[in-house]
Amino acid sequence: MREPIDPLTLLQWYDRHARIMPWRVSPGDRCAGVRPDPYRIWMSEVMLQQTTVAAVKEYFVRFTRRWPSVTDLAAAKDADVMGEWAGLGYYARARNLLKCARVVADEYDGIFPDTHDELLKLPGIGPYTAAAVSSIAYDLPETVLDGNVERVMSRLYDVHTPLPLSKPELMTLAQALTPQERAGDYAQAVMDLGATICTPKNPACGLCPWRDPCKGRLAGTHVELPKKVPK
Ligand code: ADE
Repeated sequence: MREPIDPLTLLQWYDRHARIMPWRVSPGDRCAGVRPDPYRIWMSEVMLQQTTVAAVKEYFVRFTRRWPSVTDLAAAKDADVMGEWAGLGYYARARNLLKCARVVADEYDGIFPDTHDELLKLPGIGPYTAAAVSSIAYDLPETVLDGNVERVMSRLYDVHTPLPLSKPELMTLAQALTPQERAGDYAQAVMDLGATICTPKNPACGLCPWRDPCKGRLAGTHVELPKKVPK
């Protein structure tokens, strides 16, 4: 029988190949049980909403050096935050960043809530960011669905329904695969797989931990996926 699609296989790959990012806990610290800081995870996810990892890294480092905690950021002057954001684009994100920091500082004692529903109430936090913070920072089994995850799920399950029609189906598949344990590492592992192996063009299937059970690869359709509704 063919190997099943198993989240553990991906987690084992992530333990060896996780990309190093300034908001992630290092592998050594991870083994020692160090948890990511919800403030840093939230900030990185807001910055990553419409911007590449490469561009975000330096902004993230500058922001967190200048404002190491959510209460520091909440006390910042609007003009200082907008100035530090200059160049990242989509400035509504910076305004919401500051609004959100002030709500967390004033109404949540400076501690980010952990559940998806509570996170969704905060300024600038939509379903994607809520799931990312809940899983990555608090290890709750929430499912993140971004472009990378959509591509990986489409190929893994050979989904031919075009995007965006396929989103509910992809979400159901992605949720079913999300493990109850290490959900945060798993979420980041799928993102890393989509960014480095299961790329839009020329995917490196030979290096993929899910190459054997991947239904798209088996059918030879993976490179055409995900399909998109013509514009
Ligand atoms: N893109 C959005 N969030 C990310 C994360 N936590 N790691 C890598 N890429 C991402």
